[in-house]
Amino acid sequence: MVSIAPVRLRLGVNIDHVATIRNARGGAHPDPVRAAQIVAEVGGDGITAHLREDRRHIRDEDLIRIQAATNLPLNLEMAATDEMLAIALRHRPHAACIVPERREERTTEGGLDAAGQHNRLAPIVAQLSDAGIRVSLFIAPDPRQIEAAMQLGAPVVELHTGEYAHAEGEARAAELARLGDMAALAVHCGIEPHAGHGLTYENVQPIAAIPHLAELNIGHYLIGEAIFVGLETAVRTMRDLMDDARAPASPGRGG
Ligand code: PXP
Repeated sequence: MVSIAPVRLRLGVNIDHVATIRNARGGAHPDPVRAAQIVAEVGGDGITAHLREDRRHIRDEDLIRIQAATNLPLNLEMAATDEMLAIALRHRPHAACIVPERREERTTEGGLDAAGQHNRLAPIVAQLSDAGIRVSLFIAPDPRQIEAAMQLGAPVVELHTGEYAHAEGEARAAELARLGDMAALAVHCGIEPHAGHGLTYENVQPIAAIPHLAELNIGHYLIGEAIFVGLETAVRTMRDLMDDARAPASPGRGG
């Protein structure tokens, strides 16, 4: 593999689960907008939100309020449906990450089959791109999916780190190697690689150390941790871990 200078690794914070807690009582508290403002104050690089078909967390009106409340780029995670396409074209987020979505799943399980769904995805990617929205495809770290993303003209892929996060021992090491190889392949194909899903303080550093990655999107763990230490501290701690993983090794520094 060609060695490259690491790019700065951005941190996008997924604030969906602030809305999950709010929705549990049907009121207005806690407000995901306040979370977005805190993320902006502590140096987060972007806000990520997944508008699901069943609106179980973020809702349409949240998108408007989040966009109005901070200057951070909004990364809208969306299913490849006509409804979501219309919403994205109306709200014009900075980026749209196309994810597979099944109503019964607890979270986004598995990556998008970009290879098998070319004809369905092509017009959606084209319309988002024509509107100036940076399209990302949430895919498994698989060369077929990177190839498909290239065929679709997607400028960004987000590599699904769920398998890595759930694996242990050798299986985790193998998945990490796969993620590193696919990040490098994406760059080779002219695609900016991002990564996310299931990342925590414990497992983020080997991912952050992959030099080709430009962005991590992290949600559930940060919002959960915020219950105990506050969102500011949770985001700062994650940022520090990411920076530490990217810092050049120096004598006396642990490996
Ligand atoms: N990236 C994408 C595309 C996602 O769909 C999600 C949430 O499902 C995340 C990142 C964040 O994952 P997590 O909440 O596990 O950190």
